[in-house]
Amino acid sequence: MTAAGFASLGSEVWCVDIDEDKIEQLRRGQSPIYEPGLPELLAKHSARLHFTTDLPDALQGARLLFVAVGTPPTHSGDADLASVHEVVDSMPASDSHALVMKSTVPCGTGASIERVLRERGKDGLSYVSCPEFLKEGSAVADFLHPDRVVIGDGGGWAGDAVAKLYEPLGAPLVRTDVASAEMIKLAANAFLATKISFINEIANVCEQVGADVVQVAKGMGLDERIGPKFLQAGIGYGGSCFTKDVSALKLLAGNSGYHFQLLSAVIEVNELQKRRVVSKLQRHLGELAGKRVALLGLAFKPNTDDMRGASSLVLAARLLAEGVHVRAHDPIAEEQARRLMPELDYAPSALEAVEEADATILVTEWPQFVGIDWRDVAKRMRGRIVIDGRNALDGEAVREAGLTYEGIGRGACRQ
Ligand code: UGA
Repeated sequence: MTAAGFASLGSEVWCVDIDEDKIEQLRRGQSPIYEPGLPELLAKHSARLHFTTDLPDALQGARLLFVAVGTPPTHSGDADLASVHEVVDSMPASDSHALVMKSTVPCGTGASIERVLRERGKDGLSYVSCPEFLKEGSAVADFLHPDRVVIGDGGGWAGDAVAKLYEPLGAPLVRTDVASAEMIKLAANAFLATKISFINEIANVCEQVGADVVQVAKGMGLDERIGPKFLQAGIGYGGSCFTKDVSALKLLAGNSGYHFQLLSAVIEVNELQKRRVVSKLQRHLGELAGKRVALLGLAFKPNTDDMRGASSLVLAARLLAEGVHVRAHDPIAEEQARRLMPELDYAPSALEAVEEADATILVTEWPQFVGIDWRDVAKRMRGRIVIDGRNALDGEAVREAGLTYEGIGRGACRQ
């Protein structure tokens, strides 16, 4: 996305990867990930985009090297920086190039990379932290209309050059030091995850006291100090970023001698939230063994094929463990899901997934599920229960079809 974005702003961009298949695919004009609008952007600016597995090739054409490699969690939950270090190691000494870190790295990584560069006599290379804030599924719009651009550096030419690249977007610019830029990224993700776990806990209380969390979130969100975004209660946040970054920040704090209690609760609430649906089903259906449940959606959010950290993984595993027959449909993520959950029964469409189901659970709010005709669903199901795991459905339409609607935290709507 970064490559396509900068090409769309007029830059020549060289994309380097060690994965030859990925580079070949991109040369053929295919995007290796599902991201709406990205293939079109790549095609539109193909003349300015060069794909190669050869780093020296790219170094001839470009001065700013944006590092966009994965930093998955290790077994300890800390970020695995092996790929970042491979990139740093592969850089030749130079006075005219800069490493610009887009990958999400723990606070302190920039300082340690600068130290490594000094030790290896490569301190002519500049280092800039430029964290990424775009969301999967809306990456194109997020790149072109960022809320802010954050640049952390020691005040040299490279930070100015990165700022110039982003200038046409007209976004507020935060120029700061490397450590603060690294921390902004982790703190932003951790705060968003906290917002979600908070509203999920409010939802759970709403169920106890007969309130509707959708109304509560609306009333809260109109307070400008709170804001309406990321207050959608559901079956927990997923994705590689929140799960990884919240844990990485918690451990970063721990490693530096500070116990970040709030984040422990955020993580725990999220884990329990994925499992709460199982008790909802038990309440409606009693013993679950032998029951048939349809899952609508498997990806961690709509408009992506990403299954990393998806709530569906935990939910499906729990249902299978209870002896449930789980039939699922996802319009895009099925291939990825099959690799992680080969034991699920995959249906080619939503209506085929709900066939003979005792209960249907909306797991990912793909537009095609939100807009489904619930009368068609009702005709095919053998049971009546519809659990709206994202509070995205029109509960009235579900009920009018003769089905029983239950959302998350919608105590007042249950009747
Ligand atoms: C997140 C951040 O939003 C981006 O700013 C950041 O750049 C990115 O991580 C990253 O670090 O790379 P992303 O994981 O793509 O983006 O998706 P989000 O839209 O943030 O959704 C994450 C999860 O939270 C999804 O499972 C979504 O369903 C859930 N969510 C979101 C809720 O449960 N409730 C909400 O109100 C919002």
